Amino acid sequence: MSTSQSPARRRIETLADSAAVAQAAANLFVERARLAHANGHDFHVALSGGSTPRRFHALLAASPLREQVDWSRVQFFWGDERCVPPDDPESNYRMARETLLDAISVTPAQIHRMHGEDDPAQAASAYEAEVRRVFGAAPDATPRFDLIYVGMGPDGHTLSLFPHTAALRVTNRLVTANVVPQLNTTRITFTTTLANHAALVAFVVVGADKADALAEVLQGAPNPQLYPSQLIAPAGDLLFLLDQPAAARLAPQP
Ligand code: 6PG
Repeated sequence: MSTSQSPARRRIETLADSAAVAQAAANLFVERARLAHANGHDFHVALSGGSTPRRFHALLAASPLREQVDWSRVQFFWGDERCVPPDDPESNYRMARETLLDAISVTPAQIHRMHGEDDPAQAASAYEAEVRRVFGAAPDATPRFDLIYVGMGPDGHTLSLFPHTAALRVTNRLVTANVVPQLNTTRITFTTTLANHAALVAFVVVGADKADALAEVLQGAPNPQLYPSQLIAPAGDLLFLLDQPAAARLAPQP
């Protein structure tokens, strides 16, 4: 494993393979849940979609990690969602239910899913209100997640913040609906305002198909319209958990 730290409290951990990345992502959940509980509050975590999280969800859903978390004090959110019903194969909520939530003891009151089946703009507003309700935040306050997991696409998108889409410029909302012409669809997504207020944002990125974009995101010229992952610069910590193939094009850091 190689680790580099740069001034912006950004840490890049390159691990041997996707199994090691999944283990590190799962361990991080346990570590940060315990930290939140030790500080006397519930653990507020936002899960990501896509395929990469499946593996670390499965580690959390099984022994020994399953026994290391007080699940009754975890509030589950999602950073983005597809505009589909919760039982749709494309649903990020369904993926998390099948790979984690069904295997742990949580109540429906702890599960705060985005309603992808509703009108996207209304679902985004409703989710923003739900986030504030659960955090007990004032109407103009930005809640601070303990941990937001995000992935990254081969095009450098993260959450559902895709290149050259309107949501990249939305800063006066916490959650927004985003028209994504390149996928001919609309998504519901955290904005950078909410994401960048987190105590920790963790990118979990594996596979050679991500290497080019990752090199641009981490070491390329600032171009967030083309590489939206560059917009993620939280007030707290920023962590990249990478496997060797994903990190293959990164220049060695001092
Ligand atoms: C989504 C995600 C998205 C995802 C990346 C990476 O809903 O699709 O939230 O941002 O994290 O597309 O996806 P993979 O893990 O499948 O490569």
